[in-house]
Amino acid sequence: MRTECLINGEWVGADSGKTFEVTNPATGRVLTSVPRMGGAEARRAVDAAFAAWPAWRSRTAADRGKLVGELGRAMMRDQDRLAGLMTAEQGKPLGESKGEIAYAASFLEWASEEGKRLYGEIIPASAAGKRILVLRQSVGVAAIITPWNFPAAMITRKLGPALACGCPVVIKPAEDTPLSALAIAELAEEVGIPAGVVNVITGEAKAIGGAWLDDDRVRKLSFTGSTEVGRVLMKGASEHLLRLSLELGGHAPFLVFDDADLDKAVAAATACKFRNAGQTCICANRFIVQEGIHDAFVERFAEAINDLKVGEGTGDGVSIGPLINDAAVEKVESHVRDAIGKGGTVRAGGERVRIDGLADRFYAPTLITGMTPEMKIFREETFGPVAAVTRFKDEDEGVRLANDSEYGLAAYFFTRDASRLMRVAEALEYGIVGANDGGPSTAQAPFGGVKHSGFGREGGRYVMDEYTEIKYVSWGL
Ligand code: SIN
Repeated sequence: MRTECLINGEWVGADSGKTFEVTNPATGRVLTSVPRMGGAEARRAVDAAFAAWPAWRSRTAADRGKLVGELGRAMMRDQDRLAGLMTAEQGKPLGESKGEIAYAASFLEWASEEGKRLYGEIIPASAAGKRILVLRQSVGVAAIITPWNFPAAMITRKLGPALACGCPVVIKPAEDTPLSALAIAELAEEVGIPAGVVNVITGEAKAIGGAWLDDDRVRKLSFTGSTEVGRVLMKGASEHLLRLSLELGGHAPFLVFDDADLDKAVAAATACKFRNAGQTCICANRFIVQEGIHDAFVERFAEAINDLKVGEGTGDGVSIGPLINDAAVEKVESHVRDAIGKGGTVRAGGERVRIDGLADRFYAPTLITGMTPEMKIFREETFGPVAAVTRFKDEDEGVRLANDSEYGLAAYFFTRDASRLMRVAEALEYGIVGANDGGPSTAQAPFGGVKHSGFGREGGRYVMDEYTEIKYVSWGL
């Protein structure tokens, strides 16, 4: 387990010598401590990245891609070890952690190939004897700030394309889950990514983020996290007109039409809602179910929910681990209390699960019917294992309810009508739409939101635009 930070190829502690503890959310026990760094170390990380930029961007795309691909393969070689570390610091079930390592490595594999396809073009000019040459070049030092819910994949989704495009990076992982990030940094060093190209520091979010926003040498900031913090970063970024990608909060609707395949809808609803104990930006939060199928859906969904096993992520057959901290459990409780107070009915769960010897951070997978737009759960991200259901009469009403949110990250719907499939997909005001699919995430697709869920796309060929500048050369022959 790495417990120091990587700056310019050196493993170092904070200048002050201060550290903070990393705890296992399932047991509440301290795993280790990592450096509490601040602005000075953040600037030094930028010094290193900025100095490494000319050599890194001058390498061939194939050469950069080879190293990025090797990092992905090293992660897969160490999948079990990295998954164990992730479950220890984040709490998710071991199977999900292994899945996340594979998902994280897939971003590196994809970027390692896609970096070779940063094509320019030659545009015929309007004046004779001229040509217009379009080039794509790396933006420069990229700052990466990531959340605790996916401690590895949210890093590699940014790191892979940044490196493939020729950008060195400075990374700050979430305080709750720094160990996965440090383990990835160690592998980056092991596969031969040069010193200064990947720098990872842990510590005070405000001081580190502030130093990067204030530093003109940082040319790109990619952040995954809350809408609230996204707004702060966007204000700070205005001084230096820093390019941003913001993947922020979500509040996904999950529509089930009368003609849906019920088996598929229930299986997808369960997987989509309860992945990572509901602590996922694209988790369904509002189940909007047409009248004719509502009762059957609720009955089957409740059965599926009651089959989910709650426990420590290392336990056999566990599919719901602990929530990340006490505040997360309190938020879930407040949403459930509010829903009950406003007429909702609990059909499954609805309370904490207390397990001997473990922290009091487990919440039963919960199903609430009778959700209304007045309830908190209809508007605010629950970020926990609670599914709330409401009914709708016709397609117009269903789509209106689904779009009634400030967020616009992911939406899901289930129908067997091919015409409706296209109509509803087009009508939903979301960046990601799962049409008869509860698991749309994949490395080759452009992940990202609209409205208060942010902007910018990660994944596929679209992410390469985030780390490259377009330059044209007006060429007199
Ligand atoms: C997220 O919660 O933002 C990431 C989910 C995913 O990549 O599927």
